Amino acid sequence: MTTENELVSSAVERIGVLTSGGDAPGMNAAIRGAVRAAGCLGIDCIGIRHGYAGLLNHDFMHLDQQVVKGITGRGGTMLYTARSSEYNTEAGVTKAADACRHMGIEGLVVIGGDGTFRGAMDLSKHGIKVVGIPCTIDNDIGCTSYTIGFDTACNTAVDAVDRLNDTMQSHERCSVVEVMGRKAGHLALAVGIATGATIILVPEVKYDFNKDVIERIRAARLAGRNNFTVIVAEGAEPGYEVADKILEATGIDTRLTMLGHIQRGGSPHVRDRVVGTSMGYKAVTLLAAGLSGKVIAMRGDKYIDLDIREAFVLTKDFDYDMYKTFSALTFMDKNTLLQSFKST
Ligand code: F6P
Repeated sequence: MTTENELVSSAVERIGVLTSGGDAPGMNAAIRGAVRAAGCLGIDCIGIRHGYAGLLNHDFMHLDQQVVKGITGRGGTMLYTARSSEYNTEAGVTKAADACRHMGIEGLVVIGGDGTFRGAMDLSKHGIKVVGIPCTIDNDIGCTSYTIGFDTACNTAVDAVDRLNDTMQSHERCSVVEVMGRKAGHLALAVGIATGATIILVPEVKYDFNKDVIERIRAARLAGRNNFTVIVAEGAEPGYEVADKILEATGIDTRLTMLGHIQRGGSPHVRDRVVGTSMGYKAVTLLAAGLSGKVIAMRGDKYIDLDIREAFVLTKDFDYDMYKTFSALTFMDKNTLLQSFKST
């Protein structure tokens, strides 16, 4: 990580900030962190609205500490976000780079997921300095142990499942809850463990529906449970299929809840406010130091900066040990628990 004491004067006089891809709680904290850091370093800040489309449409706004006052705790993104098919062309990228030069934007802080970083890479080939901030509720960017938005989304989903458990218990029902995560199961795993779910289905772990779902529900019922919760990641299988198969095989009254975009909203929890603010500030220090083609990442609790190309090369490891431990604890399976212990 470049240290602030190496900063004598900024290598850039004006930067842009944009948010792209699916929004996430904490995006505004990252915007504010970047804007206040730029203000400290005497760097002018331009907000680009609606992601890369904002460059193509010259959808700009001035950013300073007054404009970003009080946004740390606000969900969503004050700069809007959008996906732009026009930007995904060579001509679109060239047009976007011309827009940056027209506005005197020498560097860009891009806040989003892996798709956002690909767009930034394309722009950097035209001489625009770029630094990425990993921000998605999926937590599925391989080069970082944490992406802004994940913790808040997990807490939102956990609150919903806790509420569902109350009513499912009263009616002795089975609750199937489909959660987001795109092609990853990190959110589903965290929510399932945090809510004491009966079963967690994720795309990373293949399963035999009868053996790993139906038989386990039957075993839980025999062990005295009168309501059941199945957390299914959207990338594993459609929630409605899971609910239909459980009802058909067991006769248990089953209800499906698709949490959907509620997981993307809400006031960011403290971790996303702190990480967002910190990454926003660190991204600006890298641009001020004249660096480009970087992404801010976390390793444990430490912030590092990496070549941005790493953000879309490494796949994010799934916590198989935690998954196995969850199963062992849920079904009081001593052998699996001991195996899981040995493998740690
Ligand atoms: O990547 C974040 C995410 O919320 C995924 O978990 C989800 O599958 C996707 O975005 C939904 O995309 P959209 O908001 O375009 O429907």
